[in-house]
Amino acid sequence: MTFTRSANLANLKSSETVAISTEAKRRRAAGENVLDLGAGEPDFDTPQRAADAGIAAIRAGKTRYAPNVGTSELRSAMAGALSRMSGGRPVDPERLIVSNGSKQALFNACFALFGPGDRVLIPSPAWVSYPQIVHLARAEPVPVPGDPEWGLKVSVADLERFRDKHTRGLILCSPCNPTGAVYTGAEMAAIAEWAGTHGIWLLSDEIYRRIHFGEGPAPSLFDLDDTVLDRSVVFYGASKAYAMTGWRIGASYAPIELTRAMAALQSHTTTGANHPAMWAATTAFSDPEIDVEVERMVAAFRRRRDYLVARFQDQLPGVEFVEPHGAFYFFFRVDAMVPDAGLVGAAFCEQLMQQEGVALVPGGAFGDDRWVRLSFAVSDAELEAACDRLVQFVVRLGAGAAVR
Ligand SMILES: Cc1ncc(COP(=O)(O)O)c(C=O)c1O
Repeated sequence: MTFTRSANLANLKSSETVAISTEAKRRRAAGENVLDLGAGEPDFDTPQRAADAGIAAIRAGKTRYAPNVGTSELRSAMAGALSRMSGGRPVDPERLIVSNGSKQALFNACFALFGPGDRVLIPSPAWVSYPQIVHLARAEPVPVPGDPEWGLKVSVADLERFRDKHTRGLILCSPCNPTGAVYTGAEMAAIAEWAGTHGIWLLSDEIYRRIHFGEGPAPSLFDLDDTVLDRSVVFYGASKAYAMTGWRIGASYAPIELTRAMAALQSHTTTGANHPAMWAATTAFSDPEIDVEVERMVAAFRRRRDYLVARFQDQLPGVEFVEPHGAFYFFFRVDAMVPDAGLVGAAFCEQLMQQEGVALVPGGAFGDDRWVRLSFAVSDAELEAACDRLVQFVVRLGAGAAVR
């Protein structure tokens, strides 16, 4: 029978970041010397004590359905971790739902909050899945271009230009994938106040919060008043800071009525997250030794960030980039190097892969193809080798005065 897409999938595109990683893996398997700096996951292993807790859970028979919103132990452990990061502020475990990664939590929230006729503002460039998830809810994603003078972040004035009477939501990501930019506490507070004034739901993706190169974790909605949390959804999880991407543990924190609606939705889609993985995550969020390990991983990301910034400043002084303050991405501009208008990022990445065997992600995947994203979640040696190849490639491109 011929397959025709239902209206549900009318706007669906598959993930370009996953496609690039798959291509890099294919080339590697075929024996090519490919450096994959396209992936969005830590290069570290899951902390042993968390992995052991998952294995112990399987051995102890914790292999049946868990409560659909997550075990009470995990919700308490996660609430504790969130509370500690915000100076001990109360965090109610009843408002947390554990999902199959924060991606499912984002889907739950968008599906529960938005529908046809609704518009959702998304500061751009943005993580690939936000517009797709909003489309799946049959609402309209509205990109709000970030300011290149300001780390590609948006201000209240930028958001206000795109607001109309159909605007129902805003998805903020800090630390940001793909730029590594971080909103300050004051910037977040101003945006939260603007959203509140206009009855706009603020969806704050804080999955990279612990991977912050400043003091402590990155600023969060949890640092603001209860009134902000009463009209917002915060997303968090184990994937990034705890190097647990494959365990698929993420969460939403939302007002109680919305939490109930999302729990009902999740009960009919996946039932809930993987039960043994919840025990691994319970240990990850509560074990002080794992906390120390997370700090070590963050220190490695910081060191690699410093290395990249220094190499770009030194060897590619004309190339514009966003200095990352969190996450593990480096976003740099390529349109001046490849003046072939239209497909700049895509052409750059394709040629770089062909000529130098380095996989990066074109900025078009995130809504702006003048840029390219490099993930520094790779070993120091791989990062150094990738930088050598990248500089060589750019020099060959003949970016002229921009290259030393
Ligand atoms: C900004 C952002 N949010 C959410 C996710 C989803 O993470 P997970 O579903 O593993 O929690 C990712 C993963 O790449 C991401 O980069």
